[in-house]
Amino acid sequence: MEAFNYRDGELFAEGVALSAIAARFGTPTYVYSRAHIETQYRAYTDALSGLPHLVCFAVKANSNLGVLNVLARLGAGFDIVSRGELERVLAAGGEPGKIVFSGVGKTRDDMRRALEVGVHCFNVESSVELERLQEVAAELGVKAPVSLRVNPDVDAGTHPYISTGLKENKFGIAIADAEAVYARAAELANLEVIGVDCHIGSQLTSLPPFLDALERLLGLIDRLAARGIHIRHLDLGGGLGVRYKDETPPLAGEYIQAIRQRIAGRDLALVFEPGRFIVANAGVLLTQVEYLKHTEHKDFAIVDAAMNDLIRPALYQAWMDVVAVHPRDAAPRAYDIVGPICETGDFLAKGRELALDEGDLLAVRSAGAYGFVMSSNYNTRGRAAEVLVDGAQAHEVRRRETLAELFAGESRLPE
Ligand code: LLP
Repeated sequence: MEAFNYRDGELFAEGVALSAIAARFGTPTYVYSRAHIETQYRAYTDALSGLPHLVCFAVKANSNLGVLNVLARLGAGFDIVSRGELERVLAAGGEPGKIVFSGVGKTRDDMRRALEVGVHCFNVESSVELERLQEVAAELGVKAPVSLRVNPDVDAGTHPYISTGLKENKFGIAIADAEAVYARAAELANLEVIGVDCHIGSQLTSLPPFLDALERLLGLIDRLAARGIHIRHLDLGGGLGVRYKDETPPLAGEYIQAIRQRIAGRDLALVFEPGRFIVANAGVLLTQVEYLKHTEHKDFAIVDAAMNDLIRPALYQAWMDVVAVHPRDAAPRAYDIVGPICETGDFLAKGRELALDEGDLLAVRSAGAYGFVMSSNYNTRGRAAEVLVDGAQAHEVRRRETLAELFAGESRLPE
C-alpha cells in the first residue's frame, strides 16, 4: 500500500494535497498516513492469525500520541524503553497489559510505575537488573513478569549503530550465560519467568539472521524446559526492514510464515516489537526550499528542515528519497539538499536530480520512523509540526514548537 501518490502532478497523502498541508500548518512538518500505519500493523496480525500473539509497536520509532492512538484502537501492544514512553502509551489509550518494557537502563522509578500499572512483561537485559527488579517488586508486594533479553550472537548484517545482537553489543544477556540467569530468576520470589526475548538489530533485509537467532532461542527454551523452567512466550523483537531506495526486505507474511513453520507443535505465544516496519513509509517530512545556491562545485538547495528535524542522513549516512511535491517540467540539476544549521553534516540528501525553484515544496520520504522522535532543538530551532492524515482529513497531532517554549525552562543568574 502506497500512502503518498501523485495526482494531477501533485503529491498527496491519502486524499490530502501536501501543498494544502504546507499552506495550513507551515513547514517543516511531518505528515503521516493513518491507512498506511493500519495496513502495516495488520500485515503482522493477519499473518499471525490462529496463533496466540502480541504485536507490540516499538514506541521509540514514532511516539506521537495520535499515531499511538491509531494503533491502540486496533488493539496493538507497545514496546517501551522509558517511563516517558509508558506515560505516552497510557495517554494514547494503550492497554498496560499489552506493554513490554525493554531497555538496558531501567531505573527503580521506571520499574515501580510499570509494576503499578501492570505491564505484560519486563525484558530484562542483565543479571543486575534482575536483582533490582526483584527488590522493587518485593517492596510493592507483587510479582514481576519477566523475559530475559538474550543475545544470540548473530550478525544482523545491518549498520553497526543499529546492530544489537553481536556479543560485543551492550544489549541483552549472552546466550551462554542465559541458563544460569534463568535459574536465578526462577529462585526469586517476586519474579515470574514467562518468556524469552531477543532483538538483533534494525533494518534487516533478509531472513537468515532472524532464523538463526530463532534456532538458538528454541534450543535455549528446550534446555530450560529440561530444568523445569517453562517458557510461555517468545519475543523476537523488531528489526524487519523497509524499502528506502531499492532494498527488497522480506514481507511480514513471509517472515512470520517462516517462524510459524519452525515453532509448529510448540506451546508458545509469539511477541513482536516492530517499529520501522509499521511507520517508516507512513510518513514524509515536508519542507520548503528557502534558497538555491549555485557554486562552482555544487548546487545546493537550502531547505527549512535540517539535521535537527531529521538526523538519519547525518548520523547513519542514511539514504532517504527526496521528491518534489509539484515536479517541474524543466532540466534537473544535481542538488545537495541541506538545512540552515551551521554544520557541514547538516544535509538531508546529496546529489539528487531535481528541477527546483525557491519556494518549492519537497517531501523526504520514509521519514515516519526515527524522524521526529530523534529531533532536537539544536541552533534554537523549534521542532516541526506533525500532521496525521485520515482519508480526506488532515489533523494536527502536534503543533509546531514556539520560540518562547524553547527557553521557557531557563533562567538568568540573579542580579
Ligand atoms: N525492540 C527493541 C528492543 C529495539 O531496540 C528496537 C529498536 C526495536 C524493537 C524496533 O526496531 P525496528 O523494528 O524499528 O527495527 N534510530 C535508528 C534505529 C534504532 C533502532 C533501535 N532499536 C535508525 O534511525 O535507523
